[in-house]
Amino acid sequence: MTVTKAPLDQRRQLNVGMLGCGFMGKCHSNAFRKMPYIYPGASFVPRLLVLCGRDEAKLRREALRYGFEEHTADWRDVVRDPRVDVFDNCGPDPLHVEPSIEALKQGKHVICEKPLAVSLQDARRMRDAAAAAKGRNLCVFNYRFVPAVLLAKEIIASGQIGQVYQARMSYLQEAGHDPSTPPEQVWYARWPHSGVLQGIGSHAIDQVRYLVGEVRSASGAVRTYRPERAVASASDGGAEADEASASVLELEGGAIAVVEASAVATGRKNFLAWEIHGSRGSLRWDLEHPNSLFACLPRPGAARLEGFAEISVTGREYSGAAEWWPPGHNVGWEHCHVIEKLRFLEACTGSPMDPAVATFEDGYRVAAVIAAIRRSSRTGERVALEY
Ligand SMILES: NC(=O)c1ccc[n+]([C@@H]2O[C@H](COP(=O)([O-])OP(=O)(O)OC[C@H]3O[C@@H](n4cnc5c(N)ncnc54)[C@H](O)[C@@H]3O)[C@@H](O)[C@H]2O)c1
Repeated sequence: MTVTKAPLDQRRQLNVGMLGCGFMGKCHSNAFRKMPYIYPGASFVPRLLVLCGRDEAKLRREALRYGFEEHTADWRDVVRDPRVDVFDNCGPDPLHVEPSIEALKQGKHVICEKPLAVSLQDARRMRDAAAAAKGRNLCVFNYRFVPAVLLAKEIIASGQIGQVYQARMSYLQEAGHDPSTPPEQVWYARWPHSGVLQGIGSHAIDQVRYLVGEVRSASGAVRTYRPERAVASASDGGAEADEASASVLELEGGAIAVVEASAVATGRKNFLAWEIHGSRGSLRWDLEHPNSLFACLPRPGAARLEGFAEISVTGREYSGAAEWWPPGHNVGWEHCHVIEKLRFLEACTGSPMDPAVATFEDGYRVAAVIAAIRRSSRTGERVALEY
């Protein structure tokens, strides 16, 4: 029997330095590790070079598990390392601003988890630093890259549902529904974090902006039901760890959107859901059934609209799904993170940036909408937005 040695992967290496080895550190590492074999046509392979975390034992364990070559407890070691091409900030919200700005100054390409920053002022500083930097920037709004959401974007942009009148977006979880759960066990009360509107409402607001249009005014009501969970956040008008909100957004082009964000939605695990209505048709989708886009579209020859039909957005003909599994074998939450980071890294190697990739400008604009909703909740006014 002859055994032939497999050739080494000769593709260009992109060296990744990552801050944070918790939930998102694991998720982004998983994305980088899957790229070389899911995308053999990509011109690069990510190399997991250095991981930064706070707890020494956990850091050592996770560096080994994810395949990082080195680790450090100081993020400055990462952003100043001349070998690092891409700095990936998966740290807690309050740790987004300084490391990301320093990495941009050092000429790195920078990935930063949402929310871009805890305060609007810091989000603006990050947006400005990104605009002045030579590296590329990504604010992680991963749900843009669920294949069903990519298809919805295509359908809306092609005019098939006509003029969009209304959208309804919710991001609902139940993490805080039980009053006896102590603050340190609910994710939105762990850091000076500013709560659920920023933590998951930011994704819903991004879906409004991405799928329908820019936000021109906001009004809303924001609530914290368990005061002991409210961790005051920095500078931004006394925002606190909110647990639920309901908002009305007026959009460029005349559409209106209702946005709900909740961590007291008993029974909901991770329910990002929307419905968009236009003059010729409607679309609906939710993350608990990520492969199905429901579309109500005019059928040639039909006398009237026939209601919603389910499209299984799996298989080769769909952007994002094509490289994964045969039809019906399903692509979900994990995959949208892989697709997003892949498209961003392609731009880091000199390809044009995929317009679906959210930038620090997008992160800043979402922060501006959140600040407007909070202000409206405090004052009762409808707040106009200028970016
Ligand atoms: N896009 C998404 O799907 C999604 C989902 C969850 C969380 N997030 C966001 O991702 C980010 C990380 O959230 P998470 O759930 O992974 O948090 P986590 O608590 O699980 O992990 C945070 C990590 O940061 C490290 N860390 C904290 N302070 C540090 C310091 N001073 N120096 C070095 N390391 C430090 C911790 O050791 C930990 O490894 C947050 O901004 C969060 O809002 C995004």
